[in-house]
Amino acid sequence: MTRPNIERPDFGGPFPEHIAIIMDGNGRWAQAQGLRRVFGHRRGARTVREITTSCAEMGVKSLTLYAFSVENWKRPRREVLYLMRLLKRYLVQERPTLMRNGVRLRAIGRVDDLPEDSLRTLRETERVTGENEGMLLRLALSYGSRAELADALKGVARDAMAGLLDPDTIDEQTMRRYLYDPVTPDPDLMIRTAGEMRLSNFLLWQASYAELHVADVCWPDFDRAQLLKALESYARRTRKFGGLVDAVGPGGDDGERKG
Ligand code: FPP
Repeated sequence: MTRPNIERPDFGGPFPEHIAIIMDGNGRWAQAQGLRRVFGHRRGARTVREITTSCAEMGVKSLTLYAFSVENWKRPRREVLYLMRLLKRYLVQERPTLMRNGVRLRAIGRVDDLPEDSLRTLRETERVTGENEGMLLRLALSYGSRAELADALKGVARDAMAGLLDPDTIDEQTMRRYLYDPVTPDPDLMIRTAGEMRLSNFLLWQASYAELHVADVCWPDFDRAQLLKALESYARRTRKFGGLVDAVGPGGDDGERKG
């Protein structure tokens, strides 16, 4: 069981335990250089390796990557097939790197929708890396937040009908137990690349209080320096979770309401 030597950058403020990333702009990156969109995905897979390794080395506890959404099935068949082949290749080729960095890989999403061979390879990579004690890498595959909430609700309804759950006791903690991964703490920092200011149906429940960082570069150009920029920005944030920051001045509360 391996753990990398942790070298956490210090920007004089908080460091995110869980980072979630919307990896956007592969197609635009490729098209900007006169290449077909799929070349962007291929370069994007390289960035997945670089950012995963960097996060593991920096001591990030969990990294969630939006690799394929439920909506992505609507893309041209050739692009979907390419992405599925790329995923399968990644899941095999990256095993040594994941093992070396002590990374445990898990998937969230409607993974049963994946082609059989990709799913088999995914389960095998989950198994092989399952005992690693370093960072958790969650790949969101055939993932959509609305689908996740609908799936959770089905579970809640089934258990309520079976008498296992009293509807009057349902609260936020109950709902969480029916999400794809009820255990991993919510993301602290949500990064999106390619300058887009949208959540695109990603972790809508879990990212309720995540700090957002939008990078202008497309995903294939998102490197360690870009990651450090996001971490530096996070270190300057004050997280209040809808409450108040620490009491100010003698006598405590300054009475100011903060959102
Ligand atoms: C968004 O770019 C990216 C995706 C839909 C897929 C993400 C896939 C990868 C980063 C590569 C493979 C990942 C793994 C885990 C092996 P886009 O195509 O929507 O870009 P555009 O908005 O410029 O068209």
